[in-house]
Amino acid sequence: MARVVIMDHPLIQHKLSFIRSKNTGSKEFRELVEEVAMLMAYEVTRDLPLTETEVETPVAVAKTKVLAGKKLGVVAILRAGLGMINGFVKLIPAAKVGHVGLYRDPETLEPVEYYCKLPPDVAERDMIVIDPMLATGGSASAALTLLKQKGARHIKLVVLIAAPEGVARVEQDHPDVDIFAAALDPCLNDHAYIIPGLGDAGDRLFGTK
Ligand code: URA
Repeated sequence: MARVVIMDHPLIQHKLSFIRSKNTGSKEFRELVEEVAMLMAYEVTRDLPLTETEVETPVAVAKTKVLAGKKLGVVAILRAGLGMINGFVKLIPAAKVGHVGLYRDPETLEPVEYYCKLPPDVAERDMIVIDPMLATGGSASAALTLLKQKGARHIKLVVLIAAPEGVARVEQDHPDVDIFAAALDPCLNDHAYIIPGLGDAGDRLFGTK
């Protein structure tokens, strides 16, 4: 069964409060989403393997540790996932970045892929899928399926706010994928918005609507 990790770090929780506020404009919203994404990247990479090395300091040789070279990939679900990319790549500059675009078919209500560009070697990478909102879980589940079809074997899902419905959907469809969220909100409304949530993440990032 997937792990669901709620990141209760005080800085994440503090910044998330301002992200949620309707009085936060797009510029500040974007900056805060990037900052929280960076803090979340720090936490989800906690299990990266290290290897021992030696470096010469100005006074002596120090035995130190560096990343063992595990390859990472970050995949943003369009379009709101774009807002979290910089936070991740600032901290993990060697990560390759992929994009997945999905729309909901108005008749079947199922997600349909309209764009998919992934690093070619996803099978060798630990993949991190990012999207600020895990609402119904339809897009996240479809994106995870797509990644697996392309060969990905180790995937984590990182979201700012999750709803129980989205968590249940991902747990059911992808029990191997751990979910990391800054908050788990109580429910969805009739339009599949997370309550209380933060509104439409894409619109707030890009000033649309
Ligand atoms: N997508 C959003 O941007 N907000 C929600 O509340 C749900 C899905």
